Amino acid sequence: MRYILAIDQGTTSSRTIIFSDSGEIIAMAQAEFTQAYPNDGWVEHDAEEIWQSVLTTMKAVFEKCHLTPEDISTIGITNQRETTVVWNKHTGKTVYPAIVWQDRRTAEQCRQLNENDKQATYIKNNTGLLIDPYFSATKIGWILDNVKGARDAAEHGDLLFGTMDSFLIWRLTGRLHHVTDATNASRTMLFNLHSQQWDNALLELFGVPPAMLPEVKDCAADFGELDKRILGVSIPIQGVAGDQQAALIGQTCFEKGMAKSTYGTGCFMILNTGDQPLVSENRLLATVAYRLNGKVTYGLEGSIFMAGATVQWLRDGLKLIDHAEETEALAQRARRNNGVFLVPAFTGLGAPYWDPGARGAILGLTRDTGISEIVAAGLQSVCYQTKDLQKAMENDGARPCTLRVDGGMANNDWVMGFLADILGAQVQRPVVTETTALGAAYLAGLQAGIYSSLEELASKWQVEHTFLPRMTKAQRDEAYKLWKEAVERIRSH
Ligand code: G3P
Repeated sequence: MRYILAIDQGTTSSRTIIFSDSGEIIAMAQAEFTQAYPNDGWVEHDAEEIWQSVLTTMKAVFEKCHLTPEDISTIGITNQRETTVVWNKHTGKTVYPAIVWQDRRTAEQCRQLNENDKQATYIKNNTGLLIDPYFSATKIGWILDNVKGARDAAEHGDLLFGTMDSFLIWRLTGRLHHVTDATNASRTMLFNLHSQQWDNALLELFGVPPAMLPEVKDCAADFGELDKRILGVSIPIQGVAGDQQAALIGQTCFEKGMAKSTYGTGCFMILNTGDQPLVSENRLLATVAYRLNGKVTYGLEGSIFMAGATVQWLRDGLKLIDHAEETEALAQRARRNNGVFLVPAFTGLGAPYWDPGARGAILGLTRDTGISEIVAAGLQSVCYQTKDLQKAMENDGARPCTLRVDGGMANNDWVMGFLADILGAQVQRPVVTETTALGAAYLAGLQAGIYSSLEELASKWQVEHTFLPRMTKAQRDEAYKLWKEAVERIRSH
């Protein structure tokens, strides 16, 4: 038996999971870290605290099982994407907190960039992305322009940029390797999807000195050896992917037309589009799904900012529930077709609307609206938003042939049932729902020779439950029409 250690550095916590070579979870350790909101629309993480959380879980996981670090063959890393870290390569210290993917501080700059059609078209055609504060490029520029001396230091080659994977690998390898993988690079708005290189025109546009950038590798590659001082042995780091792409790999969506949707803080749906990027006409993102042996498989992605976070708000903001698990029973009690819609545009709307000025609302309240109806509307909003993505994908000529789900909310049967209803499609939940970490483990395992092919990995995937649509088309169309009307009422235009 061989074992793989997967590090999943997410938005709210860092986790380390040990998998056996059959994909079984042997042990898991998790540590949360601080979310800082220093200004309206700003979200920051302390990269030092994240580093410590990763080290803590890497050590703690061995206290939870019979294994020792000598038993680990290889390491895989997956991470919150886009989140931007800039550090000094001599001192090893960050020059500013990590600016998190959710951070909107560069919204005005993005609005101005968007006014130039030529630029916007160049970016869309070459990065697959839309100009939005979500991606790393404007976050790097903000740090260089707002931290005293940072731009000069960057131009002198003293500063390095990385997404979380890159920062962690640099530290984990004893500062020897400044690298990233093609999936993470594809979320920076600086990486050319076609040439698979950093794009000079974009580096110039966003004022990013090339010397700051990591080397971009395949997802299964040699990223360096773990510094012996950390666990007492050196172990190769051999798999890296951004968390949403890692989930696609963990769900083994290796065929064109297969899609996965992950319900975490937000919801991210990725459809495998094969060996060609599909540059969307419907405000979805073209992205690298994975790159193996130099061969790129592309994905079409829809990103929704509020999924599990909506349930969190019902719990912590409105205090309607004590635990997320209560939502299922409450929703079952809600009156059917009650006309209540919750549009969770708390930080604006993501795909396909990309409306940072939109704000949330609960609509259609009557005297007999109760907690159940509001909770049900909150859960349904996640499904309606997935429907928005499905529609946008269809309008781009790419209908998902299957939808595999994972993430915390995928365990809520009521939500998954409604999702199947409103999509009018089968929804499949796998046995192993820790698909993100599993995807990183699979990549490392491929490079280490534990697995021989994607076909071998695909044969491991097992369905736990298939949710079938029960609504009629007329019911579905009517419900979705009402959702669209609700969204229109809260748009900023
Ligand atoms: O693009 C952001 C995404 O990678 C964050 O995922 O699971 O950390 O919320 P998660």
